[in-house]
Amino acid sequence: MDRIRIVGGQRLNGTIPISGAKNAALPLMIASLLTEDTLILDNVPRLVDVVQLQRILGNHGVDITIAGKRPGDDPNSGRTLHISAKTIVDTTAPYELVSKMRASFWVVAPLVARMGEAKVSMPGGCAIGTRPVDLLIMALERLGAEIEIEGGYVIARAKNGLRGGEINFPKVTVGGTHTALMGAALAHGTTVIENAAREPEIGDVADCLNKMGAKISGAGTSRIVVDGVARLHGARHAVLPDRIETGTYAMAAAMAGGDVLLQNARPELLQAALDVLVRAGATVTPTNEGIRIARNGAGLEPVEVTTAPFPGFPTDLQAQLMALMTRAKGTSHITETIFENRFMHVQELARLGAHIHLDGETATIEGVERLKGAPVMATDLRASVSLVIAALAAEGETMVNRVYHLDRGFERLEDKLARCGAAIERISS
Ligand code: UD1
Repeated sequence: MDRIRIVGGQRLNGTIPISGAKNAALPLMIASLLTEDTLILDNVPRLVDVVQLQRILGNHGVDITIAGKRPGDDPNSGRTLHISAKTIVDTTAPYELVSKMRASFWVVAPLVARMGEAKVSMPGGCAIGTRPVDLLIMALERLGAEIEIEGGYVIARAKNGLRGGEINFPKVTVGGTHTALMGAALAHGTTVIENAAREPEIGDVADCLNKMGAKISGAGTSRIVVDGVARLHGARHAVLPDRIETGTYAMAAAMAGGDVLLQNARPELLQAALDVLVRAGATVTPTNEGIRIARNGAGLEPVEVTTAPFPGFPTDLQAQLMALMTRAKGTSHITETIFENRFMHVQELARLGAHIHLDGETATIEGVERLKGAPVMATDLRASVSLVIAALAAEGETMVNRVYHLDRGFERLEDKLARCGAAIERISS
């Protein structure tokens, strides 16, 4: 398995292009199941999770072609996928495929909405606490699907199609909101989704569905209304920039010091995280091209942060912020409210010399003057990248083992950082 070697102590200066958002690309690809026509997606990131989803969709009979680059095309822009679900040959998503990536469970909604049935394995994905699907099932039931759970599979049936209903989520769920949206888009009648997730990726998927002929209003707020339509058609849509990748490189720049332009990044997608970075002592400047992050000389200030659904501080940046705070001039507290057990990075950060104490959902981080390089192990997607951030400021060499997780969510990470002056390389095995 590949490893990444980092020698800390270099400042970051230059430009980092931000890729299309993984968490929008995946549901957008899944939305292709809702129509017989071709859905064209631009700015799709080159990630292992995207390839994995291509396999899952292929199993349902979906054809995906990837357009090549033409002379003059921006080398940093993502790929263009032409996705055609003209004929769905199989409505089962097997364990072997779904267990590798949680979001692939979301195929259940478009399959049952269009085909009247779906059999989808319970999901896998990052090992960050129990990640149930009860609310996704509740949403499908509210849309009239009959649900059976058998042998680790969720079987959803709606012989005469789904019908509009009231869905009131007791807890904000991104996957639940995607499920409700995709099901409701093709349901008979009107659906009202209350306490919907407001994450920008929900808005991006709703925009694309509307281009496909859906009638969705209120996406981006906690009350979404969907007037179901009989069929959806093809469309072309560009994936929005990845706010988690943006925040990750912003933290990396704050950690290493220097001055970095995060090209194509949009500040409104991660205002809460940018506010925290400013409190920590970074200079954040929105520009026409993206966001500039600089930190020169001065030390980092400690912060108090609690993760929350959008527009709050994202759980997907919690590990990266913790890495940053290991070097703050004082004690920080970070409380994780979205996922239990999302603290696997703590023991690995400790190997680099971090002082972190866990008490339930809250981590207390005592800033230290020096981190020291060490061999560490990548555990989940966001935890892995927190180790890279810490390593950028650690003395000597850090070897991040098992980088498979990084490749699931970060496109050309070592290349993007190396171009800004980081001493980082991939060692393939
Ligand atoms: C999505 C993101 C993930 C991010 C998370 C929270 C994608 C591909 N993944 O994951 O990167 O960390 O949102 O912002 O977009 N829950 C239930 N029952 C359910 C569903 C969820 O109790 O049926 C709980 C979860 O355990 C968790 C909370 O709801 O505590 C939020 O989870 P959810 O928003 O659904 O996360 P995902 O959609 O899986």
